[in-house]
Amino acid sequence: MNQVIANLTKQKIWLAPLAGFTDNAFRTICKKCGADVVVSEMVSADGLIRNKEKSLKYLDYTDFQRPYGIQLFGSDPVIMAKGAEIALAEKPDFIDVNMGCPVKKVIKRGAGSALMNTPELAENITKEIKKVLAGTSIPLSVKIRAGWDNFNINAVEFGKRMENAGCDMMCLHPRTRSQMFSGKSDWNLIKKLKKKLIIPIIGNGDINSIEDIIRMFKETGCDSVMIGRGVLGKPWIFRNIKEYFKSGEVLDISWKEKIKIIKEHFKLEIENKGETKALIEMRNHFSHYTKGLAGSAKVREFINRCLDSEDVLEAVETLYQAQEKTFNG
Ligand SMILES: Cc1cc2nc3c(=O)[nH]c(=O)nc-3n(C[C@H](O)[C@H](O)[C@H](O)COP(=O)(O)O)c2cc1C
Repeated sequence: MNQVIANLTKQKIWLAPLAGFTDNAFRTICKKCGADVVVSEMVSADGLIRNKEKSLKYLDYTDFQRPYGIQLFGSDPVIMAKGAEIALAEKPDFIDVNMGCPVKKVIKRGAGSALMNTPELAENITKEIKKVLAGTSIPLSVKIRAGWDNFNINAVEFGKRMENAGCDMMCLHPRTRSQMFSGKSDWNLIKKLKKKLIIPIIGNGDINSIEDIIRMFKETGCDSVMIGRGVLGKPWIFRNIKEYFKSGEVLDISWKEKIKIIKEHFKLEIENKGETKALIEMRNHFSHYTKGLAGSAKVREFINRCLDSEDVLEAVETLYQAQEKTFNG
């Protein structure tokens, strides 16, 4: 394994691509909290070609986020290769191909997890993008699912085929397309993929705590772990895991530190998108930041109609403060 790939995959904790969430600001926050590797939201190769300026906005990043990967989706090998050329000009640390998205809009175009039903096409995409990357040190990763449905679980054979086509590292989210995002992910498939393939494997699915991370490394033998929904509302999970690696203790940061992180997140969103857009887009994040806290329903209701960023932050801070009092009181 070359050093570039080792640096991306040797016991690393990745932030999953989450369309609508892992934008420039949130990636910075996760990186500050200790994420090792971050990936862009998925971007259409076709979109990159047709409307480059608009699509490139999704790919904005800062050097601080490195190593940073750009994820492409599409189903035409030539278009994907052209998309990869455009993406490469943005100087990412790696390119990733989405072969796992279960959403209808994507599937309809033969992209995302539909590619797991057309392995020959997926292989051609991998080969064409590898041609674009030839002569660079930029690796290619592919993100796959368990398969289409329970009757068509092909992650291991499919993964091997992508490896033979030149894929340098692979992430497996072991749910089928039919499962979408529900039910349990089958970590046993990650173990099987790891055994069968030579390239590094990034395990993904159902990571919500430090204990889950440790268990996934142990049970599957995967090289790295990718956290998806488990970071929503708690990007500090990365800080907690780093602390655990150092001290062996499972600790959580204080509510004051959490508020500091939330404020910084909001500030970055406002800087990047302007106050109005940031306020609206942050509502989903605030919903996660407040989830499960006593009295949060009312606060969320307020946030969802409030148009003043100071008032929103004050409401969140008061809510966090109240939890602390409840716990200590
Ligand atoms: C809201 C949302 C958006 C997602 N966007 C993407 C995406 O753009 N690209 C991708 O490869 N996977 C995407 N995923 C899948 C996640 O990266 C991840 O594979 C999946 O959520 C399983 O991990 P988890 O159980 O830790 O959440 C998305 C998932 C969710 C819930």
